[in-house]
Amino acid sequence: MVNQVVSKKRVADHGEVYTREREVNAMLDLVEQETQRIDSRFLEPACGTGNFLIEILRRKLKVVARRYQRSQTEFERYAFLAVSSLYGIDILQDNIETCRNRLFYLLDACYSSLYQKKTKDSFREIIQFVIDKNTIRGDALTLKTLDEPAQAILFSEWAFVRGNQIKRRDFAFHELLPEENDLPLFSASAPQSDEGKTVFIPNPVKDYPICHYMRIADAE
Ligand SMILES: C[S@@+](CC[C@H](N)C(=O)[O-])C[C@H]1O[C@@H](n2cnc3c(N)ncnc32)[C@H](O)[C@@H]1O
Repeated sequence: MVNQVVSKKRVADHGEVYTREREVNAMLDLVEQETQRIDSRFLEPACGTGNFLIEILRRKLKVVARRYQRSQTEFERYAFLAVSSLYGIDILQDNIETCRNRLFYLLDACYSSLYQKKTKDSFREIIQFVIDKNTIRGDALTLKTLDEPAQAILFSEWAFVRGNQIKRRDFAFHELLPEENDLPLFSASAPQSDEGKTVFIPNPVKDYPICHYMRIADAE
């Protein structure tokens, strides 16, 4: 079993006490269907080493393997979709690095065991790229990075638009969590869902041209 505590100092400084696998899975079972939906988006806002993200990815990959393993191309597309919808923030750099490694190695272990010599390093690079983008060293309270000067935390939305073509849009985290009073919910012109409910539609801070998902790193 993985230790729940690294050091007393880290508990005192950062409240770093990890959730056990059993509790993680019990909590995820409460939203079981979402954890098995390949494209469902999850954010673990103080992710540590990614205890929740890793279990969600494990669940999603089981579905991807069961449905698509007969076609390596399909498996790659859906494995990308599974991991690109997972997001994490942590204040400690070592935790973010461990989280990234865990996500990458879990996906790679599944990929390598299924396709062995037919696996592609170019696919692994894209997976690493998207994991690095989605897991951010930052402060989940100020919603800023720990860079000097601090920047707004940005999250990228990766959305397949047709076939393997993907649209990336970056959103500022603080705009995804507006103050209650700022919600268009309270404005007469707020958009409505099909059921007539008022919905909140955030604006991206950056929009990228549509491209093949294996080309997303070229836009940087
Ligand atoms: C209680 S642990 C939980 C880790 C993981 N989510 C889990 O359940 O196993 C809290 C984590 O929050 C991080 N943390 C503390 N303050 C934070 C902040 N202001 N912003 C982001 N992360 C923070 C710590 O580094 C630590 O990894």
